[in-house]
Amino acid sequence: SQKRKVDETLSPFRLSHEQLQLVKARMRAGLEAGLKRKGSTAIKMLPSFVYRTPDGTEHGKYLALDLGGTNFRALLVNFKKGLQQNTRLHHKIYTIPLEIMQGTGEELFDHIAECISDFLDYMGLKNARLPAGFTFSFPCEQTALDTGTLVSWTKGFKATDCEGHDVVSMLREAIKRRNVTVKKNVSAVVNDTVGTMMSCAYEDPQCEVGLIAGTGTNVCYMEELKNIEKTEQSTGQKMCINTEWGGLGDDGSLDDIITPYDVEVDQTSINPGKQRFEKLTSGMYLGEVVRQVLLDLTRGGLLFRGHVTEALKTAGIFQTKYLSQIESDRLALLQVRSILQGLGLDSTCNDSIIVKQVCGTVSRRAAQLCGAGMAAVVDKIRENRGLDHLNVTVGVDGALYKLHPHFSGVLQETARVLAPQCNVTFLPSEEGSGKGAALITAVARQRGEM
Ligand code: BG6
Ligand code: GLC
Repeated sequence: SQKRKVDETLSPFRLSHEQLQLVKARMRAGLEAGLKRKGSTAIKMLPSFVYRTPDGTEHGKYLALDLGGTNFRALLVNFKKGLQQNTRLHHKIYTIPLEIMQGTGEELFDHIAECISDFLDYMGLKNARLPAGFTFSFPCEQTALDTGTLVSWTKGFKATDCEGHDVVSMLREAIKRRNVTVKKNVSAVVNDTVGTMMSCAYEDPQCEVGLIAGTGTNVCYMEELKNIEKTEQSTGQKMCINTEWGGLGDDGSLDDIITPYDVEVDQTSINPGKQRFEKLTSGMYLGEVVRQVLLDLTRGGLLFRGHVTEALKTAGIFQTKYLSQIESDRLALLQVRSILQGLGLDSTCNDSIIVKQVCGTVSRRAAQLCGAGMAAVVDKIRENRGLDHLNVTVGVDGALYKLHPHFSGVLQETARVLAPQCNVTFLPSEEGSGKGAALITAVARQRGEM
């Protein structure tokens, strides 16, 4: 029957408890390998040069820039000592057009400099000297807080002449090119996970992990310095590590759970073979996985009366926001149909039931995989400290986590089942990771590192 065939198509997406346990174990092994080895490992485990979370004594005004999620944001943040609730924050959102994301590096950084200049005008701060933190949501090899060499672009970015270069220098040069009178001192480059962790830790001192489930996916956490064999740092006890866990599977370690639909999504992406875990779990790719399944069902005559339309052949039509809407329990099937209609897909009532089922299966797997990864991370922190039981808070951001109706619940439940000795609280970040970048700049200033 039709129902049985749809179920068969979806069955490779349904992961058993044993499979999830294996994913947890592979994530754990990947974290360990990345901490030991210099050079390329599937999970990069990048040192962040952030040694502690905020303690509430941070103060002063900072500029923050935030590049790499859906939007580019410029922020001005004012911290008051001991008055976390009174933090003042102003921001402005700018879009980065696709041709700039995928043009030359110079054009990209010129565009950012342009936005900064506009923001300073807007805030009336053109001539103020403010320390700035730069959230740059891509893998960077750092040797200090204020330098970061882009290892490789991920997600939708591929501007030329950036990989292998220091992003802080590129930003400084663009600012210089644009206007010599803007004296901004970029004192920290920060991954969005690290910014999110810091921003949440400002409210909750138990926060030692940062998670992004958005366009891309990634985690950072506080690791013991003695375990970070690849750096010879000796200041302090811990350092935050940007795991870049989206790379899990790039060495083939997830091949047994990867479906033919995932292979198709990977092969048609701008970075085939890279970020395999990310391509199973994050917003930029989930809609594409769904579309590949729908294409297959349609070709098999199980959907859309067997008509493969131009709309269905269009890459990127299923953005995360549509998945979130389609899966909402409050939505009547008629409304699902009208969403599909809006995307150019003519559906019967039965079609819309199947589409909803496909979306649900693909996003559930994503949340479970993130949960399995999270279980590996929190268990590692627990074992590092020789504890039987760990209470830990995870700061989270990203549209998939915040807007999807079931993702956060499944994530939490999976982490609970797979890491029974940890009590994990997920705390959504309120102001994005830019605030965290500003805090890192403030913490570094207080330590006299800048
Ligand atoms: C934001 C951060 O809050 O979350 C960004 O400030 C980050 O830097 C983003 O990349 C992730 O969300 P999304 O869903 O836009 O990728
Ligand atoms: C991608 C980036 C990573 C970032 C994540 C979430 O995985 O490589 O640096 O943290 O997306 O935005």
